[in-house]
Amino acid sequence: MYTLAFESSCDDTSIALFKDEQLITVKTASQIKIHTQYGGVVPELAAREHTKNMIPLFHSVLETGDVTLKDINLIVVTYAPGLIGSLLVGTEFAKGIAKFNNIPLKGVHHIAGHLHAAHLTNKIAYPYLGMAVSGGHSNIYLVNDIDSYELVGWTLDDAAGEAFDKVSKMCDLGYPGGPIIDTLAKQWSGELIPFPRPLKHHKNFNYSFSGLKTAVSLYLKKNPEYIVEQVAASFQKAVVEVLLHKLKKAADHYKVKRIVISGGVAANSELRAGVAKDFQRYQLFFPELRYCMDNAAMIGYAGIKLYQKHGADQFDNIQPKSSKLLQTT
Ligand code: KG4
Ligand code: ZN
Repeated sequence: MYTLAFESSCDDTSIALFKDEQLITVKTASQIKIHTQYGGVVPELAAREHTKNMIPLFHSVLETGDVTLKDINLIVVTYAPGLIGSLLVGTEFAKGIAKFNNIPLKGVHHIAGHLHAAHLTNKIAYPYLGMAVSGGHSNIYLVNDIDSYELVGWTLDDAAGEAFDKVSKMCDLGYPGGPIIDTLAKQWSGELIPFPRPLKHHKNFNYSFSGLKTAVSLYLKKNPEYIVEQVAASFQKAVVEVLLHKLKKAADHYKVKRIVISGGVAANSELRAGVAKDFQRYQLFFPELRYCMDNAAMIGYAGIKLYQKHGADQFDNIQPKSSKLLQTT
């Protein structure tokens, strides 16, 4: 059985091909060069780029897999959350080829995809505590099954990756900010600026990063001669400390054995080092670095598993939604 999966929720056009549950190929067209000049994703441009990239990428994936549309048995597509224009390109393209070729269609929530990215290269049993930290989300879930997610913590304002991107923009470093700040932070071993640790000592498992971002902005204004490596290291330490503190609290509270950390920010080296040090009593899983950022392989994996359990979706039910937290229990 062959599956084609599509992801276009933000600024990456990505298509994956699976044979049964085995990933054959995943190809992603990045738009970083376009958005970097604006310091963040411009929704209108993102949608236009998806329309340009989708068809060549589609042909390239079929060619690499040595298959034609006649061989495809299932089509999977991200339907939410994301930028509406970007999502529309993916969902309409997927619906079109599914309809005209009589292929079953399955919609996947983007966060369910992120939470399952680590399954591509690991055998992970349910239940587990899953943290999805990216440019759009900073959520903690109890993941009980492929179709059962209990949201236990979320960000009240900015996502962690969004804060990385905004701080990078304030320092004129470029987009996406996460990898740039990660690299700069490694170059600083001196004193750290005492930026706030938002909500760290609150009882719940929620996050808030907008105050931290403002604290960095105020610091930059007050200290025009700032050392960028010091700002990067101090900001990153504050984010990672809060992310891991709340994750640990939730893990203790829900008495889980397994933890999965996914999304673009899961690529962060300080976060990975912190987890290795402080979470030794848990079975820990990260996606491979190439599956941390948005990609169609994680969407395909989740879609195949959902299809095995529930069958195909009605075409009309696959409608893009901009903001929708994944919550099924
Ligand atoms: O998962 P993703 O590709 O897209 C969303 O669903 O948002 O995540 C992108 C986010 C960006 O905000 C980027 O700055 C962040 O992940 N990111 C990182 C690192 N690599 C990517 N943040 C911190 N450290 C990194 N090494
Ligand atoms: Zn994502």
